[in-house]
Amino acid sequence: MEILVAQTAAIGQLGGELIARQLRSKPDSILGLATGSTPIPFYKEWISLVGRGELSFARARSFNLDEYAGLPRAHSQSYWTFMQENLLRHIDLRVSATEIPNGEAADLQAECVRYDRTLESAGGIDWQLLGIGHNGHIGFNEPGPSLTAGTHVVELAEETRQANSRFFDSLDDVPRQAITVGMGTILKAREIVLVAQGEGKAEIVAQALTGPVMTELPASFLQLHAKVTVVLDEAAASKLP
Ligand code: F6R
Repeated sequence: MEILVAQTAAIGQLGGELIARQLRSKPDSILGLATGSTPIPFYKEWISLVGRGELSFARARSFNLDEYAGLPRAHSQSYWTFMQENLLRHIDLRVSATEIPNGEAADLQAECVRYDRTLESAGGIDWQLLGIGHNGHIGFNEPGPSLTAGTHVVELAEETRQANSRFFDSLDDVPRQAITVGMGTILKAREIVLVAQGEGKAEIVAQALTGPVMTELPASFLQLHAKVTVVLDEAAASKLP
């Protein structure tokens, strides 16, 4: 595991360097993408690199980690909308090459099976971008007595709904379920980049990277992966031993 600590303002630039390295070595990479506050500096940098002609996603494909269940795709807080607004609309990744779980599917279980099959037939994830929840979740793989390998429907933890309520009018409006790719899929990615910023993530980052590997802290399983790069700002790194 490689841990890179940078000033908050330099996180985006690091994100640009990491994706440029990946796409240079494999232009047709299968990218695993995340939503939330964490990847925004990366996405801003990718957009400006594409705008300057220094980076191209033209041959890449992307698979998002997760999506709320029951939220219309066009809802302002759906992850589909997030991805369009914060990245996809602004770069040269083909629309037909982007996959986001369909949280509006009438049969959510069937959608999970479809997502896994599509991902598998694409050859699996080459480069997976991850944030980390305050409770140690990655994707929406929440802490619990067990973890699930494949894409599945999850009941969102109360902490997660509360953390995400900042984007909704009220806590009641935050969906209770989501579709997420599973831990098996994440851990099969050939390379993983975990990003965290801010003091609020410092404790969970330290536990995930240096504490015991346990299902109660899903991000701790990243310790078992052969190729993980962790990008932290100084605040998020402040509790590492
Ligand atoms: C988002 C996702 C989540 C977030 C995590 C951190 O697609 O999979 O695991 O990465 O909840 O969220 P932020 O970045 O908003 O702190």
